[in-house]
Amino acid sequence: MSVSVVAPHSKRPAEEDKVFAANRKAQEAAKKVGADQVINSTIGALLEDDGSLSIMQTAMEAFKNLPDAEIAAYAPIAGLPEFLEAAKTAVFRDYRPKGHIRGVATPGGTGGIRHAVWNYMEPGETLLTSDWFWAPYRTIAEEHGRKMTTFTLFDEKKAFNLASFKEKVQELADHQERVLVVLNTPAHNPTGYSLTDEEWQQVLTFLSNVVEHQSKKVILYVDIAYIDFAGDMKTSRGFMKQFENLPQNLLILIGYSMSKAFTFYGLRSGALLCVSSSEEVADEFESTAAFSNRAVWSNGTRGAQRVLAKVYGDPALLEKVEAERAGFSKLMFDRARAFVDEAAEVGLNIFPYRAGFFITIPCENPAKVSEELTKDYLFLLPMAKGLRFAACAVSVEKCRQSARLIKKAIDKVNG
Ligand SMILES: Cc1ncc(COP(=O)(O)O)c(C=O)c1O
Repeated sequence: MSVSVVAPHSKRPAEEDKVFAANRKAQEAAKKVGADQVINSTIGALLEDDGSLSIMQTAMEAFKNLPDAEIAAYAPIAGLPEFLEAAKTAVFRDYRPKGHIRGVATPGGTGGIRHAVWNYMEPGETLLTSDWFWAPYRTIAEEHGRKMTTFTLFDEKKAFNLASFKEKVQELADHQERVLVVLNTPAHNPTGYSLTDEEWQQVLTFLSNVVEHQSKKVILYVDIAYIDFAGDMKTSRGFMKQFENLPQNLLILIGYSMSKAFTFYGLRSGALLCVSSSEEVADEFESTAAFSNRAVWSNGTRGAQRVLAKVYGDPALLEKVEAERAGFSKLMFDRARAFVDEAAEVGLNIFPYRAGFFITIPCENPAKVSEELTKDYLFLLPMAKGLRFAACAVSVEKCRQSARLIKKAIDKVNG
C-alpha cells in the first residue's frame, strides 16, 4: 500500500521535467553512437557547435575578479541599489517610459513570475498567457493555488491573434477583479515571435479600455527573458515607450533575467520591475515584492548583482560585453536562418520566427513525431500542439538537417 504524508494541496504526480527528460535521452544516445551522430535540440541554453555551454567570458571574468566578500555576503533584501539602477538601464536603454519605475532583485526571471502570481492574483483565480507557452508558468500558478488559461497566439494567417486575446481577457475580467496577463515577447519561447509596435498599441489600447470602463485591474507581465537576443535596441525595446501614461489600474510588470543575457543561468539573478503612472501603485509594488523576497528566498545572488552594476557603471566593460553578445546573437541567428530556410525549401510548416532561442513546428501527434525522430537521433521537445526546436543548441549544419528530418517524420506519422 502506498504511503503519502504531504498535505493535499502539494500532492502531485512524480514527473520528470520534460526538457530534462528529453536531454537525458539525447545524452544516452550520444554515449551509444557518438555525439556527432546526435542532434540534441532540447535545452534552452546557447551551446557551442560541439555541445558545450557558451560562456560569456567578459561577464565570467568580472564575476571571478570580485572580492570574496562581494560574492559571499548577503545582498540587501530588495537587491543592491546599484544593481536595481543597472537593471532599469539594461531593460529600457534609450526607451525608458515616463512614469514611476521600481524594481526588486529576483532569482532569475522565474522569481518575478512567482511574485506576480502570488501578489496580483487571489487564490483560485486564473492567469492568461498564449497557447504556446513556457511550461513553468503553469507550474508556478499551480504551486500557488492559481490556475492558468490561454488565448490562441496566432490566427489562420499566422499573425498575432488579437481577437482571441481580447476575448480571453474579457472572459476573465467578467469574473475577476484583477486579470494577470503574461506575454513573453520579444523572442517568445517557444515560437521566436515578437509583437510588433502596432500589435503592442492594439494590446495596450484594449487593456486600457478594460480597466477604464469596467473598473477592473489589469496586470500585464512582460517576460523579456530573451530580449538581448531580439535584434537591435529599437526592435527589441522600442515598444517600451508605449508603457507611459497608461491608466493607474493597468500595471506593467517586466521580468528581466541575467540567465541568457550574461550566460548566468546557474547564478540565479534577475529583476522584477514595474512601470506605473501612479506613484502609489509603484510604491505598493516595491514594498509588496520586497516583503515576498524576504519570505521566499530572503535575498538574491550578490555577486551576480554586482556584475550587472559593474557592467553598466563602466562603458568600456559594457562595450566588451555587447561585442561578445553580438557574437552569440550572430551564432544564434545563423542557426535559426539555416533552419528556417531549409524548412521553406522542404515545405515544413513553422510558426513565424523573429528572434530568440527556439523555433516551433505546429503538428498533429507531436509525441509520436518526436518518438519517430529519435530513430534518427534527433531529440527535441514535444509540446501539446507541436514541436519545439532549440536552434540555440545545435550547429548550422545540424539545423539544416533537422528541418529535413522533421518534415520526413511528420509525413510518416501523420500521412
Ligand atoms: C519564457 C521564459 N521566461 C523566463 C525564463 C526565466 O529563466 P530564469 O529563471 O533562469 O531567468 C525562461 C528560461 O528559460 C524562459 O524561457
